[in-house]
Amino acid sequence: IKKVTTHQLQAMKSRGEKISMLTAYDFSMAKILDTAGIDVLLVGDSASNVMAGNETTLPITLDHMIYHATSVVKAVDRALIVVDIPFGSYQGNSSEALRSAIRIMKESGAHAVKMEGGAEIKESIQRVLSAGVPVMGHLGLTPQSIYKFGTYTVRAKEEEEAKKLIEDAKLLEECGCFAIVLEKIPANLAKKVAESLTIPVIGIGAGADVDGQVLVVHDMLGITKDFKPRFLRRYADLDRIMTDATKAYIDDVKSQDFPNEKECY
Ligand code: KIV
Ligand code: NA
Repeated sequence: IKKVTTHQLQAMKSRGEKISMLTAYDFSMAKILDTAGIDVLLVGDSASNVMAGNETTLPITLDHMIYHATSVVKAVDRALIVVDIPFGSYQGNSSEALRSAIRIMKESGAHAVKMEGGAEIKESIQRVLSAGVPVMGHLGLTPQSIYKFGTYTVRAKEEEEAKKLIEDAKLLEECGCFAIVLEKIPANLAKKVAESLTIPVIGIGAGADVDGQVLVVHDMLGITKDFKPRFLRRYADLDRIMTDATKAYIDDVKSQDFPNEKECY
């Protein structure tokens, strides 16, 4: 199997082939997604929400991220694996950013890291890139800054914030990032950014006119059911399927239907 590289993502943008990306946090799920042919797997700090049950992404630690990344790396033959550097492990300190990125790459075997923000974290991004670690940027709604924004509503609707986002996107490309995620911004703004950059722009809640799409896998498979933003399309109702299966199992245990004779030694 030919592995997906950052260079191939660039080539995909050049020929107009859209990039498919999903999150993954564990071995079994990553194996399914990779075998299905996903291009990029993001070991997102959304693990803080969907794996650990936290309300925000802030509590997850670098050690936790490395644990998830290590599990995903073991499962994957083809996809490019990108790992979020968690809150508190790169902002405002480029030496710490470099240390965090190197730990992720060395201990998990992943292929790239992702960091949230533009000009504010320029030094950290440059430092990580200088070590030969590919960096994916992330602009728009950046959940690690949720207490600055106050809400999870659409970002960059006003002209000033849109202007800063365009400048930040250009800056990330100039620094040498291999791709950028744009989260929850108006579709026409995302389109403008994707057209003006040569590197791939991957959207989540950023419309169709970008170079690829990413979703949190638990949302896309319908495991989480209370999270219902407009941008989320559910491709399965695993909540239903898993609930039904669990109830059937409980019934069979109670009624002594399970195990039967063939299921015994
Ligand atoms: O952590 C995450 O799941 C993400 C994606 C939503 C882009 O950063
Ligand atoms: Na994230």
